[in-house]
Amino acid sequence: MSAKKDDDLDFETTGHQWDGIKEYNKPLPRWWLYTFYLCIVWGIGYTIAYPAWPGISGASPGVLGYSTRSEVAQDIAAVDQANAAINTELASAELTAIAANPELLGYAKNAGAAVFRTWCAQCHGSGAAGAKGYPNLLDDDWLWGGTIEDIHATIAHGIRNENDPDARYSEMPAFGADELLTDEEITQVVNHVMSLSGEPQDASLAAAGAEVFEYNCASCHGEDGTGDIYQGAPNLADAIWLYGGSYDALLETVSYSRYGVMPSWQDRLSEAEVRAVATYVHGLGGGEASQ
Ligand code: HEC
Ligand code: HEC
Repeated sequence: MSAKKDDDLDFETTGHQWDGIKEYNKPLPRWWLYTFYLCIVWGIGYTIAYPAWPGISGASPGVLGYSTRSEVAQDIAAVDQANAAINTELASAELTAIAANPELLGYAKNAGAAVFRTWCAQCHGSGAAGAKGYPNLLDDDWLWGGTIEDIHATIAHGIRNENDPDARYSEMPAFGADELLTDEEITQVVNHVMSLSGEPQDASLAAAGAEVFEYNCASCHGEDGTGDIYQGAPNLADAIWLYGGSYDALLETVSYSRYGVMPSWQDRLSEAEVRAVATYVHGLGGGEASQ
């Protein structure tokens, strides 16, 4: 439709008209239009130069070959290279000497905290305070020992897993399920266990339970119930519970036993990373001095 001058107004119209309403012909400003065309050209150029168009197995790679993945890989490689010397030093130092070397200790704690957040927090909690079945690593109550060597061995090989022959291993019998004790004896020994940490219990049942304990439990948990780190048998005389200290929780533990599993880390992490996270855990507050 040709442009024409409006009769009454001094503006050009497109000639379109609906119910007496006329459409002005107001073209877009030149500068705007050219910027718009330029953006289109730039946009097309961008999708040619950089990864952009989605395909079936991936996006078009772009002629510049840029990828954020390779950029991250480069950054990681640069950090690895910068840390190569100190990682080698960490991996070869005496475990007990790490704490005496401020530079190594500082590096190990920082690197170890990062490893912990990535690989350990899911089970042990981001603050390492643990959860039911997953021990608190902040306290000085250790299942398998709290020296730097103990902690290193626990982390490197894991606990009761099937893929590391050096994993820490022990197995509490399922006294109820395997009919090693009668229901009565189990009730008695649970009451005895409650008495060990000063929980309210039935004194006469607990007294009978002391004998059951001596014959069935003391070999792992000790005569006095204070546990044995060589078998990962928890201290039952403190009020710290891995699976719970209520009557019901104890009944379940003794009847069915538990079987806490931790993966082995030596194949998944480098030796420097295992040492770093061991140093971090040892430094959380409960770490014990080596003999
Ligand atoms: C899949 C869950 C899981 C993950 C992941 C995990 N752990 Fe564990 N960890 C456990 C369990 C369960 C136990 C207790 C096993 C037992 O009953 O003896 C444990 C025990 C430990 C112990 C022994 C505590 C003691 O009292 O002796 C240490 C130390 C430890 N973990 C450190 C780590 C570190 C460091 C990482 C990360 C590299 C990690 N864990 C990752 C489940 C896990
Ligand atoms: C062969 C060694 C062994 C014997 C025998 C044994 N235990 Fe255990 N017990 C363990 C181990 C190891 C654990 C830790 C289990 C785990 O982490 O999965 C454990 C855990 C427990 C717990 C859980 C503690 C917590 O903090 O939640 C209780 C309670 C317990 N045992 C009581 C007993 C009683 C009572 C007996 C005797 C009737 C007994 N145990 C006999 C090895 C033993």
